[in-house]
Amino acid sequence: MALKNLGQVLRKCRSRQNHIAACFLRLQLQLALDVRKITQQIDPLGVLICLELADQIERVDAGEIHIHDDERGVELGLLQGVMFALDEGNAQSGAFGGFIDLYGKEQVFEHGQDFLGFQHLGKSVLLKKPRRGVPQCYHAEMTEARNPFADPLRFERRVPECAIVIFGAAGDLAKRKLLPALYRLAYDRRLPASFAIVGNSRTPMTDEDYRARMREAVKQFSEDGDFDEELWKRFAANLHYVAGDVKEPNLYQALREKVKGTGQANILFYLSTQPSYYATIVDGIGHSHLAAAPEGAWRRLIVEKPFGHDLQSARELNSRIHAVFREEDTYRIDHYLGKETVQNILALRFGNGIFEPLWNRRYINHVQITAAESIGVEGRGGYYQEAGALRDMIQNHLLQVMATVAMEPSAVFEPDAVRDERAKLLRSIKVMRPEEVDLYAVAGQYKGFRQEPGVNPDAQTDTYAAGTFFVDNWRWAGVPFFIRSGKKLPKRVTDIAIQFNQAPLALFGAGDGDQKARPNLLILRIQPEEGISLLFLSKEPGSGMRLRPVSMDFNYGTSFGERSPSAYETLLVDAMVGDATLYTRQDMVEASWTVIQPILENWSNRRFDFPNYDPGTWGPAEADAMIAKLGRQWRNS
Ligand code: BG6
Repeated sequence: MALKNLGQVLRKCRSRQNHIAACFLRLQLQLALDVRKITQQIDPLGVLICLELADQIERVDAGEIHIHDDERGVELGLLQGVMFALDEGNAQSGAFGGFIDLYGKEQVFEHGQDFLGFQHLGKSVLLKKPRRGVPQCYHAEMTEARNPFADPLRFERRVPECAIVIFGAAGDLAKRKLLPALYRLAYDRRLPASFAIVGNSRTPMTDEDYRARMREAVKQFSEDGDFDEELWKRFAANLHYVAGDVKEPNLYQALREKVKGTGQANILFYLSTQPSYYATIVDGIGHSHLAAAPEGAWRRLIVEKPFGHDLQSARELNSRIHAVFREEDTYRIDHYLGKETVQNILALRFGNGIFEPLWNRRYINHVQITAAESIGVEGRGGYYQEAGALRDMIQNHLLQVMATVAMEPSAVFEPDAVRDERAKLLRSIKVMRPEEVDLYAVAGQYKGFRQEPGVNPDAQTDTYAAGTFFVDNWRWAGVPFFIRSGKKLPKRVTDIAIQFNQAPLALFGAGDGDQKARPNLLILRIQPEEGISLLFLSKEPGSGMRLRPVSMDFNYGTSFGERSPSAYETLLVDAMVGDATLYTRQDMVEASWTVIQPILENWSNRRFDFPNYDPGTWGPAEADAMIAKLGRQWRNS
């Protein structure tokens, strides 16, 4: 395709900025160019065309490329991003450089290729079609602009080369979440060309066995996208395995050898075994000096939840970890914080001017946070029997969500500034006095739980937990936060409902049914159908002043039309680049254990009349009574 046409297409997209033009562009490029993958984005800057990239890259420069049509004297488009040179191996294969755009997507330019070529990597480049005769030239200037990648808020960071050592590598989490997330990162070209994954578990397996097993897991549990055999082959070449018992010192020597063989200097350890092994593994890493990083390299540790079993055990685990890893190298994962929709709570609150003035006890009546699951314990009976819903969901995920909803804005968007505010909020949650627990907390267990595999016939485990929490600060004093989570509820839904106060005067009458003057409700839907809805009253068409609730909806999927990364993809990248904003810190973990400790103590000292709710219902009647005592009602929709 002549570059002229390409220019026309670019111009067309730019002026109309609609999806039809984008599809047209895509089609044109696909017909014209023999490249495997082309994507494009349309934004106010124009069209960014992304071509499939080669492997080994090295960043060399940053800036903006203005593309001009010299003949017509018009500017065709603007690309912003970072230019890079390819290493020698790739340079020989024809490609010599490329460009990473604002979205972190990469384009590669090859010598002699039919469409684009960089004449120089540097301040000024020429985009041209290098054919015989008069070259059709589009002049592109590389200006020295700020490096857009230096802005951590807007751009995907480049992941450094490293080895990820996964303990519990044959387990459920590795199969369902970690390997699919890493594979997806490879698919999206987010992993560096040189990286390694070293798995460990007790099961004897060769590297090849482990690769075959993980191939099946990735195929089964990848949430989207087709499985790409070619990509898998390249990905799997970086997968290694060491069988061994975490209690045996020689395992750590074997791991050391394996990591050495991969040539990686940086190591990210990932604890996803049974939690009771965490301290043993950290000791093993320490004794074998695996945690000692050579000059210029790093060692980091990701710890899966649950972090401890109660306040005391969390403190003990913290001190065992700190004997080997510094706090800043310790990443306690809470995958809810990695969910796009949870991160969006901060965007909604602090990126907009209209919500924050209302975000306090003057306007907000109460907040309901619900994490309902329709599934049961799904073969995790053994673990779950010891944990229960309060520990499994509320102590970590839902208190973190509450902290995100209720925290004060931080002065800057930096890991410790944001975490300081979250921690402050967690510390401000009123700790229940022992005599308040029966009033403010409810446990439930679904019928049939005791018959699940691995569960005792008289288990006292809570498969449902609800609590009423208050925040002792000026913003929230007196506003109840109702939190609940349960298994075998009618559907899978996680959301936050922020209930605003009634209008002070019932100008249009209280009415009844649909006409009842309902207060405004802001619903932040974490999953599924990720989005935000605002409910308010509107006049019904026709005579008279009849009001009806209506809703203003924002839906992630339709608004952005692109895939959101899974929480594990986000969090793994964050740990590799050393950004702990979305990880929990020692003080946060201890603060949230402190909040639920009185409930744990109360519940461990009594015998419940379980089971107390049927599968497929919204939990025990006591939970309705708990909230009704404060004159509120659960939103069960
Ligand atoms: C995990 C809990 O942390 O979160 C599980 O251990 C629960 O019991 C899961 O099912 C829910 O996560 P998500 O992302 O599906 O809401």
